[in-house]
Amino acid sequence: MKNLPKSFCIILLCAFFGVSLNAKSKGPEVKPVDNPLYKKECASCHFGYQPGLLPSPSWKYIMENLSSHYGTDASLEKEEIEQITKYLLDNASEKAPQYRRSAKLTNSMQPGVLYTSISQIPYHQKKHRKLKEWMVTQKEVGNIARCAACHTKADEGVYGKRTINIPNYGMWRD
Ligand code: HEC
Ligand code: HEC
Repeated sequence: MKNLPKSFCIILLCAFFGVSLNAKSKGPEVKPVDNPLYKKECASCHFGYQPGLLPSPSWKYIMENLSSHYGTDASLEKEEIEQITKYLLDNASEKAPQYRRSAKLTNSMQPGVLYTSISQIPYHQKKHRKLKEWMVTQKEVGNIARCAACHTKADEGVYGKRTINIPNYGMWRD
């Protein structure tokens, strides 16, 4: 009988930590985009990639090569380039270790490698290994850079398993 309150306390403690762990996993995994100029200029052709998805050297490279941007011309005025570059560098993956996907992406990178797209980063590759080719190349998606075609909450910086809905396949089952 004397042990009862003690085990009850342990159950309460577990419940408490269970709840707080759960609450932690609900927040954004990458800091959501919060810059109007970036949204306007860099989220018109495609989904607005969060700055925390790439490290500073990658953003610097992308912003210095906008005239030949993945097969298209995304040139901007000098002033806009400066403002957007500052926003990207201030919020790049290595500057946001408190966001767990940013931390995982950063930690998986090889020193000295310039990653010119998110899909070259080892953590990203590992996470997408199980995709079938047709899931990516089908017309409703197109290529692996179309994050929001599968990740229904990508805009909010949420990429977790339960938010993945692949066209012509459905919710991701693992
Ligand atoms: C004229 C259209 C256009 C504009 C404007 C544009 N992009 Fe892109 N961007 C593309 C295309 C096309 C791709 C290739 C991926 C795809 O097919 O969706 C791409 C890919 C990217 C990728 C690589 C995604 C990956 O696979 O990792 C990043 C990062 C990126 N753009 C950032 C930017 C930034 C930053 C800006 C604003 C300065 C910008 N884009 C403006 C057309 C554009
Ligand atoms: C064709 C659909 C598809 C596209 C396009 C896609 N993903 Fe994914 N993504 C998945 C699937 C499926 C998983 C695997 C979930 C698992 O089994 O852990 C995944 C996993 C992830 C994870 C890890 C989630 C977890 O719970 O571990 C992240 C982060 C992620 N994707 C980010 C991105 C980003 C950023 C882009 C765009 C550059 C992208 N994805 C493009 C389907 C896609």
